[in-house]
Amino acid sequence: MVVITGGGGVAVCTCQYSRRLFCGGPTLSIPRTNRTVDSQPALLIGCTTSRRRITHTRTSSSSSSSGGGRRRRMTTSAAATSATETLKKGIAEFYDQSSGVWEDVWGDHMHHGFYEPASDVSLSDHRSAQIRMIEESLRFASLSDDSVQKPKSIVDVGCGIGGSSRYLAKKYGAKAQGITLSPVQAQRAQELASAQGLDANVSFQVADALNQPFPDGQFDLVWSMESGEHMPDKTKFVNELVRVAAPGGTIIVVTWCHRDLSPSEESLLPDEKNLLDKICDAYYLPAWCSTADYVKLLQSHSLEDIKSEDWSQYVAPFWPAVIKSALTWKGITSLLSSGWKTIRGALAMPLMIQGYKKGLIKFAIITCRKPAL
Ligand SMILES: C[S@@+](CC[C@H](N)C(=O)[O-])C[C@H]1O[C@@H](n2cnc3c(N)ncnc32)[C@H](O)[C@@H]1O
Repeated sequence: MVVITGGGGVAVCTCQYSRRLFCGGPTLSIPRTNRTVDSQPALLIGCTTSRRRITHTRTSSSSSSSGGGRRRRMTTSAAATSATETLKKGIAEFYDQSSGVWEDVWGDHMHHGFYEPASDVSLSDHRSAQIRMIEESLRFASLSDDSVQKPKSIVDVGCGIGGSSRYLAKKYGAKAQGITLSPVQAQRAQELASAQGLDANVSFQVADALNQPFPDGQFDLVWSMESGEHMPDKTKFVNELVRVAAPGGTIIVVTWCHRDLSPSEESLLPDEKNLLDKICDAYYLPAWCSTADYVKLLQSHSLEDIKSEDWSQYVAPFWPAVIKSALTWKGITSLLSSGWKTIRGALAMPLMIQGYKKGLIKFAIITCRKPAL
């Protein structure tokens, strides 16, 4: 059972998929108004679950003044908490199981590569394409290489096995801290940092991006490479990114989004929701949002230079390449030994290609700067 709060009402969803998070009303998406965690109930973005799997009960805010309403509120908030914990556990286990296979075949960057459109690429080019993704993201955000202005402290939110943290720490001579939900990833990330002599500058820990273990205003660069899609509460996610950014600091979010809705649309089409549901199941994702939704969330803070771009065309060769590598002898044996969660993830790869081809899935970069004091 899951709860979606917002707009004064509470939508309670009883879902056969109790592990599926925030499978809310079919049309719930980020409201057009700006929200903050302090002034509004947390925004839990509604999802794409197919209607036949769910039943809905709607309770109005007026009933919440009664004892029954209070009890219901407590029950629903407990349900939301438990759904969040279930999702976090699923994400942690998924990456605990699959990160070794990924590293064996693809190395230490667990994100898309950036390719020139229509270019022909070999496997070794994919690794350099992943580095290009980092460099293009920094360029898009106009991050300076200048010795005075370059970032000195970096947080890598959803760090995987720390590929970005180590790369950025070396590039800028900066200190980097990575957080992930997966204990296996945090440990491996630290081992790789030690092996590269980076222990003094780079550290990793298991922590939640929605409740980061850092004081306000600490980081010159807040980096989230392909972790935002896992966040069940995008408002809280963005609030945390903004909170930990230092004055004058840069925030870079590179993430999977669904297409922007047209002004006449309330939600995605049923077949689009169905496709995203299947992907959510395989990769432990809650509901998706659009790039425009992220921009609106950032606009609700006093940020400068908010920019976004659709990079789908630059990542097109990525999933076909991942499928090709999974079908090699090494890929198949690694997959088979890594467990059902990884195998299910592999089986869902063609769905990502389908989503991109339909124009439903967008590979988005969103950047901004926190004003200097
Ligand atoms: C696809 S991997 C990306 C890894 C890394 N950014 C990279 O580019 O190599 C997604 C990462 O997001 C992390 N993640 C997902 N939800 C998270 C959360 N709530 N808090 C912290 N990390 C989270 C996962 O543990 C995983 O490390």
